[in-house]
Parts: sequence; C-alpha cells; structure tokens
Amino acid sequence: ATPAEEKDLVIIGGGVAGYVAAIKAGQEGLKVACIEKRGSLGGTCLNVGCIPSKSLLNNSHLYHQILHDTKNRGIEVGEVKLNLEQMMKAKETSVSGLTKGIEYLFKKNNVEYFKGTGAFADEHTVAVNLTEGGETSVRGKNIIIATGSESTPFPGLTIDEKKVITSTGAIALKEVPKKMVVIGGGIIGLEMGSVWSRLGSEVTVVEFLGQIGGPGMDAEISKNIQKTLGKQGMKFKLNTKVVSGDDSGETVKLEVEAAKGGKAETLDADVVLVAIGRRPYTQGLGLENIGLETDNRGRLVIDSEYRTKIPHIRVIGDCTFGPMLAHKAEEEAVAAIEYITKNYGHVNYNAIPSVMYTHPEVAWVGQNEAELKEQGVKYKVGTFPFSANSRAKTNLDTDGLVKFLADAETDRILGIHIVGPNAGEMIAEGTLALEYGASTEDVGRTSHAHPTLAEAFKEAAMATYGKAIHY
Ligand code: FAD
Ligand code: NAI
Repeated sequence: ATPAEEKDLVIIGGGVAGYVAAIKAGQEGLKVACIEKRGSLGGTCLNVGCIPSKSLLNNSHLYHQILHDTKNRGIEVGEVKLNLEQMMKAKETSVSGLTKGIEYLFKKNNVEYFKGTGAFADEHTVAVNLTEGGETSVRGKNIIIATGSESTPFPGLTIDEKKVITSTGAIALKEVPKKMVVIGGGIIGLEMGSVWSRLGSEVTVVEFLGQIGGPGMDAEISKNIQKTLGKQGMKFKLNTKVVSGDDSGETVKLEVEAAKGGKAETLDADVVLVAIGRRPYTQGLGLENIGLETDNRGRLVIDSEYRTKIPHIRVIGDCTFGPMLAHKAEEEAVAAIEYITKNYGHVNYNAIPSVMYTHPEVAWVGQNEAELKEQGVKYKVGTFPFSANSRAKTNLDTDGLVKFLADAETDRILGIHIVGPNAGEMIAEGTLALEYGASTEDVGRTSHAHPTLAEAFKEAAMATYGKAIHY
C-alpha cells in the first residue's frame, strides 16, 4: 500500500459541523481533507433535515392558505389541487442546489473531499472505505469527528420509511396518508405533522409529557401554539405513552395508555412517524482502535476546547454535547478551527436560538420560566400579543405573543420566547440582545420601524420594565 497522505486536519463527516470546519480550515491555510459517506455534502441538515423540511413547510403552508384563507382577503381562486410529486421536486431542487454549492466551496477553499466511510486505524490515521470501491487512508496532525446523529428507534416498530417512518420518510411520502399518528410531540413531530396535516392527513400526536414542543419550550408558549395547531386540525394526546405497536398488517396499530398508567386504547394509522428524539451516531468509526468511549447517551466526551482525551482529536456537532442544531454545529466548527490555529474560540451556549418552523413559528433563546424557577432566580415578565400589533393585523395573522424574562433587579434579559409570524427571524434580534448582555430597557428604547412585526418585540420589552403603548 502507498503511505497515507499527511494533512494538517482530517475531518470525518461532511455535515454542517464537518463542512463548515473544512471551509474554515481551508480559509486559515490548513491542508485539510473531509470524508463523507453519504454521496453528498451537507449531512442530515441539507439532505434530509432542515432544508427539505422547510421547503415542504413553506409550500404546504401556501397550499393550506390558498385552500382556507383567501376569500376574506379578497382573492377568489378556482379549483386548487395538490401536485405532491411537483412539491417533492421543488424540495429536491433546493436540496441539490445547496449541496452542490458546498462542493464548490470545498474547491474554492482547497478542501480535499473523500467520498467514503472513515474509520480510525490509529490515533493519526483514518482508513477510508471508498464509495466507488477500494480503500485508501489519510493521516492528520489533527482530526475532527463530526459524524452527527440518527433518529432514535421505537422498540417494537420496524422502520421501513413507508408505513413506519422517521423524519427521512416524512419528507418523501408518495401520497398523503389518510391517518397519521406521530409518536413524540417535539420539533420533528410538530413540523412534519404540520406538513401532512396541511396536505389533508388526519394527524394525531401522542406525547409522553404534559406539553408539546420538546425540551426548552416555555410552557405558556407551548400551550399557545398547541391551541393554534389544534385549530388547524392537529389532534393531541398528551401525558400518553405508546405501550406497544403492531406493524404486521396493512395499517399500524398502536396500544397507548395514560403515562401514569390507566385507560388503554388502540390507535390505527396508515403511517406512524417516530419522532422521539435523535441520538449521536458513531457506528463503524473504529473508536475501539484508539480507546475513545462514548457516555451513557452515546455522546463523545470532550473538554471546553472540543478535545477528546487524545488532544489532537476533537469532536463537534450532534455527536457530542449540547442541542442538536445546525447553527450550534456551525459555531462549534468555527471555534474548533480557531482553537487549532489560534488557541482561542468562542461559543456562547446560553445564546443559541431555537426555532420551530410551524405556522405560526415558535422561537426562543435563553432560559424559560420553569428553568428560572428551578434555579430560584427572581425575574420579571413582559408580554405583548400580536393581536395588538399593526402589521400582524394588516396581514390577518395575529396568533401569538412575544414574552421577555428579565432579572427582577438588574433588568438584564434572561430569556425571550416568541410564538408568532416570523418568530424565527425576530429571534435573531433577541439573540444579539442576549449576547450583548442587554436589558429590556435597551431594547425598548431602540427605534423599530413601523409598521413591522418587530414592534411587538419592542413593546414586549417595554412591558417588562414599564408599559407597552398599544396594549
Ligand atoms: P450531520 O448533519 O448528521 O452530519 C454528519 C455526517 O457525517 C453525515 O452526512 C454522515 O453521513 C457522515 N458520517 C457519519 N459517519 C461517517 C463516517 N464514518 N465516515 C464518513 N462520513 C460519516 N437543525 C436546525 O438548526 N434547524 C432546523 O430547521 C433543523 N431541522 C431539522 C429537521 C430534521 C427532519 C432533522 C432530522 C434535523 C433537523 N435539524 C435542524 C438538526 C440538524 O440537521 C443537525 O443538528 C445538524 O445536521 C448537525 O450537523 P452535524 O454535522 O453534527 O451532523
Ligand atoms: P425532540 O427531543 O424535540 O422531541 C421528542 C419528543 O418526544 C419529546 O417531547 C419527548 O417527550 C417525546 N417522547 C419521547 N419518548 C416518547 C415516547 N416513548 N412516547 C411519546 N413521546 C415521547 O426530538 P425530535 O422531535 O425527534 O427532534 C430531534 C432533534 O432534531 C431536535 O431535538 C432538534 O435538535 C432537531 N431538529 C430541529 C429542528 C429545528 O431546529 N427546527 C427541526 C427538526 C429537528
């Protein structure tokens, strides 16, 4: 065999964490290689996650709005028909445009792209099982593991991505199921449940906890969005657990009962979406060859500079600690490269925004009320409803509110929670405020253009230290 090529940095995984690290490393002048086995760059996010799901969310929302929300706006439409195949094509166009764009950025930044599966041969050598056949290996002075995550299976149900699906099947169904049951009322359940509900499916969400939205969502906001999604036709069974499932027949039967034990019932569905969380993916990486272990949740253990116990091997993104979000992975990628080249890096884990792209959207940053109570922090609350915002009124899109949580004494912002139109864009302002250590008065005394949805943001801040004008 030819001796392995030596690089400054070898990255295993070409998802958001891996590809951003590769581009940044190239920009910093490192000799870098990135190994990806999927056949296209961008990982879960670009191929089967963030991007395809948002394409379907956007177009299913348009469809639903044209069906149900045009007459009162003075728009009379003729027959409205769903062309699911074309909707899927539109999704694929967005995905392929973006994944090819990354290949271009790799070339531009001198990143060598290996198509294949990487596994540790030793602490500096990664063996690559090439997709087109054959093997090679590449040596790295530094190595970054960025192998991402996979959906957590549900015991007793076999995923076939047709009848029993994960999010990957949910972005690729060939027809609209008559009845869909979603196990898990977290972000994936509510986003993908929304898509199929809008396209005509009868969607029931079964959630183990007493509230929907997954970890981090403020309880008041969760109640608010549940009400709105309910009006749109989604059904919810909270405090309910799925005891067993039977996927042997034409439809899938789920035995469910109250989470604390009690009345059992059988749900019948054409399609069951399993959305009970994701888990780190490190299979086949050859961790045993270098003595690296994962914790009890499958996460690779690192220090504050992303180093494993083998200091030149770092880990970023979904396969280690923290929220499984693309923008978190991206921040870590940049910081990890800066630790390698400059010995410093910066990620503020208290200011990573979360967005759920339902309609209306839900977005938050910082802490929620339950978390502040648990820590015994004294806080004040200011809210402002979109029903009192002029732009929301002109758009006939007034569900939701903005909510600030601030330190009772210093007025420093501790958390911002929004349910409402464009919440996902609006939270950028909240994240910046939190990052800069702003008070609610700083935000309330900042001019916001009129008429914009962002005025609801300003007025919620005003309501925290004083009074809103329009409510
Ligand atoms: P991944 O994107 O999973 O990338 C890891 C890559 O490594 C994969 O491509 C894999 O093929 C490759 N790989 C693994 N092992 C090897 C190996 N041994 N050799 C070579 N390659 C390997 N986040 C958001 O912030 N916003 C959203 O709107 C959003 N929507 C989502 C929607 C869905 C349906 C899903 C499932 C996720 C969504 N996420 C969203 C989460 C987001 O996709 C992840 O947080 C992000 O992709 C993590 O990036 P990563 O690089 O750590 O991992
Ligand atoms: P999640 O953690 O958001 O939600 C899972 C939900 O399932 C929780 O509410 C949990 O209580 C519930 N649950 C767990 N076990 C259950 C059971 N046996 N029966 C009933 N309910 C059960 O996980 P989800 O929705 O699978 O998404 C995974 C991750 O993907 C997210 O945490 C997020 O990091 C990422 N993601 C982000 C998106 C975004 O940013 N817009 C979109 C989609 C995914």
